[in-house]
Amino acid sequence: MDLYDAINSRASVREFTEENIPDDVIERLLDAACRAPTAGNLQPWRFFVVRDKEMKSKLSRAAYGQEFVASAPVVMVVCADLEASASGYGSRGENLYAIQDTAAAIENMLLATVAEGYGACWVGAFDEGVVTDALRLPRRLRPVALIPVGRPARAPRRTGRIPYRRLTVFI
Ligand SMILES: Cc1cc2nc3c(=O)[nH]c(=O)nc-3n(C[C@H](O)[C@H](O)[C@H](O)COP(=O)(O)O)c2cc1C
Repeated sequence: MDLYDAINSRASVREFTEENIPDDVIERLLDAACRAPTAGNLQPWRFFVVRDKEMKSKLSRAAYGQEFVASAPVVMVVCADLEASASGYGSRGENLYAIQDTAAAIENMLLATVAEGYGACWVGAFDEGVVTDALRLPRRLRPVALIPVGRPARAPRRTGRIPYRRLTVFI
């Protein structure tokens, strides 16, 4: 799939079929995530691939009851490794680069999901403490996003965008 086709057809998917996702697809999504640029190439991220029903329910509850999280066959939890970034760049690494790097990985993953014929949604509204406890994350890992992934039950609605001309200064 052409990159622009993937960018333009990506939309948040919140309804999934029960079809499972093969491991090789998951591996390609993770590979795509890990191709993102990172400050100093520190790659300060960790991924959890959650297929376990009980854990998906915990994540859904952590996301303030967003039920579609539990309904996806796979939920990726993407975490920033704050210590890895801090080791290279101090507080700027911990507070900014770790999150930027992880966000770049997430977007790569979302686009790869489209290229694979699946759908996903970036879920950022969740209680970090609850996710941290559920996955027993060490202090250095900050959960940044839950990404439910699956085959879309229907074509997602394309949302509008503010035209870039209203947001851009050309100098
Ligand atoms: C940082 C971030 C947090 C988000 N959190 C949620 C969320 O908790 N639940 C949800 O349903 N969608 C969430 N979204 C998805 C946005 O609602 C969605 O991307 C936006 O409305 C644009 O729609 P589109 O993805 O279909 O283009 C989040 C997106 C981002 C980037």
